[in-house]
Amino acid sequence: MPSKLKLDELVQDTRVNRRIYLENEIFNFEMERIFESNWVFVGHESEVAATGDFKTLTIGTQPAIMTRDENGDIHVLMNRCMHRGSTVCQEERGNSPTFRCWYHGWTYDLKGELIGVPYADGYGANFDRRRFSLLQAARVEQYRGLVFGSLENDVDPLGEYLGNAKHYIDLFMDLSPVGEVEARAGEHKYGYHGNWKFQQENGVDGYHPNFVHQAFFEAQGKELGRKVMGLFTGNSDCDSKDLGNGHSILDMTIKNRHGNQPVRNILRGTTSQSSSETYMASMIRRYGEERTARIFAASNVNLAVFPNLLIIGIQLRKTIPINVTRTAVHLLPTTLKGVPDEINVARLRAHESFYGSAGGGAPDDVEMFNRCSDGLRVKGAEWLELSRGLEREHRDEEGNIVGHITDETPQRAFYKRWRALMRDAAEAQPIKPLRAVPNL
Ligand code: FES
Ligand SMILES: [Fe+2]
Repeated sequence: MPSKLKLDELVQDTRVNRRIYLENEIFNFEMERIFESNWVFVGHESEVAATGDFKTLTIGTQPAIMTRDENGDIHVLMNRCMHRGSTVCQEERGNSPTFRCWYHGWTYDLKGELIGVPYADGYGANFDRRRFSLLQAARVEQYRGLVFGSLENDVDPLGEYLGNAKHYIDLFMDLSPVGEVEARAGEHKYGYHGNWKFQQENGVDGYHPNFVHQAFFEAQGKELGRKVMGLFTGNSDCDSKDLGNGHSILDMTIKNRHGNQPVRNILRGTTSQSSSETYMASMIRRYGEERTARIFAASNVNLAVFPNLLIIGIQLRKTIPINVTRTAVHLLPTTLKGVPDEINVARLRAHESFYGSAGGGAPDDVEMFNRCSDGLRVKGAEWLELSRGLEREHRDEEGNIVGHITDETPQRAFYKRWRALMRDAAEAQPIKPLRAVPNL
């Protein structure tokens, strides 16, 4: 690592330097050490539900394709023709048994194996197609339908990596009476002028909503508006938590209430009584009264899974770095399996009211990212302050660091992990030239 990137000059316990949002060289190291050397969220398995389904994505800035083969296995293939480098798939998603490169017609199957070479005799007798399979992610694992990939083979098993975040992922998935969600209801996309870390910090920032989203909350009416804003005031009884490994959460678990009440809360009176009752009965059949109450009470969380996934409301949100000052964000709203349609429609309508490019809240966050990018050009004010709540944090029985919901505990969690990975970079071997592995 060049001496310019001394970590203490970039990230300290309670503050970070503006350079981490602005400098190309730091961005390049982030891609290599964070996105290309560890688990990253790739997508939801339901996005490639059938044989031949595919979806294009990036790992860091490298193009890739998630596919489902004839055996039902999911692959994460690098989108780079092994002939002379063209991407082999340009569509966002679709279904196809093969990928045919437009340049000279080399054709690959769903596992990435090279199955067709035009005018193959031109290559002579020793040409071995197997050497030209698409590269693929070294590891692909799933947790409750969430697909993660790693270009580096030497990483902890996914379950270990997710650690205490699994508890909250379980609660999110268990809102379905069959324990499964789907992410096939479309996708919201937006982009902003600013670094990718702004989005990951903001998704678990409980200090900002009452200011950035004040107008939206007030438009909800007096009673509901006051209730939502109450979650984010200085005397709210909600928490933020550092879950370890860079993961964190804003935990707005409804305390001391019976499970039936939160159902009405979630659905906001938009579904008929019969749908709500059917849903509730199927939940109790599956989980029992106590667990059902716990699931509903804890259904309002903002969870950040390092480095690129946020689970907020009903959505899986993926942060996609493009360059140091340009970021794309994809929101995948989920629907619950095994519930009356009306329940899912209500979830989707509630989601749209706040999120997405035309939502009442999300565009305001994006405006903040743009403003931060502008403000950080000021030289002389080098540091961003992340000390809020440091002196009132404590550890719970699960080992999480717990702060107040308005504290910067989640941001400190993020930068602890960031620093650890970038420190590894300082001590590691020179960067390997090949980040994905041959598919032999
Ligand atoms: S670059 Fe793909 S076939 Fe030539
Ligand atoms: Fe926000």
